[in-house]
Amino acid sequence: MELFCTYSSLRGGEMKVLVTGGCGFIGCNTALSLNQKGHDVAIMDNLSRAGATRNKEYLQEAGEFEFAEIDVRDAQKVENLIKDNAYDALIHLAAQVAVTTSVHDPRTDFEINAWELSIF
Ligand SMILES: NC(=O)c1ccc[n+]([C@@H]2O[C@H](COP(=O)([O-])OP(=O)(O)OC[C@H]3O[C@@H](n4cnc5c(N)ncnc54)[C@H](O)[C@@H]3O)[C@@H](O)[C@H]2O)c1
Repeated sequence: MELFCTYSSLRGGEMKVLVTGGCGFIGCNTALSLNQKGHDVAIMDNLSRAGATRNKEYLQEAGEFEFAEIDVRDAQKVENLIKDNAYDALIHLAAQVAVTTSVHDPRTDFEINAWELSIF
């Protein structure tokens, strides 16, 4: 699996790509764009962000996506998902991006944005 790849390297051909945070703003546009280029796109998202469920529904109407409702901090589930699927590439966009949340709950912010990277 290609962990660090440029978006342009995914342009040609068919790849099986896992997009974490695929129901977020950047993630759902990335997932849709890759799907429209003929790639096989799987999404992992815990739907915690406001609007994520709406984005999931939008994607389901726009194309075919595998979807796994998993929190990136759940190392066992993440590991199982990756072991069970031969992804060619991973695009990691799951994140806690709200500044106010990071101020009120810095520990959770760190766990999602920094600690979970060790899982990958
Ligand atoms: N929006 C921008 O303009 C922009 C610009 C540059 C970089 N980025 C980066 O792109 C990434 C995504 O940003 P965005 O604007 O799409 O944010 P977003 O909040 O719209 O999307 C994040 C997604 O991650 C999911 N998520 C959050 N915590 C999770 C967890 N613990 N487990 C699984 N899923 C979880 C949310 O449900 C959401 O769907 C971030 O790293 C951000 O810093 C964004």
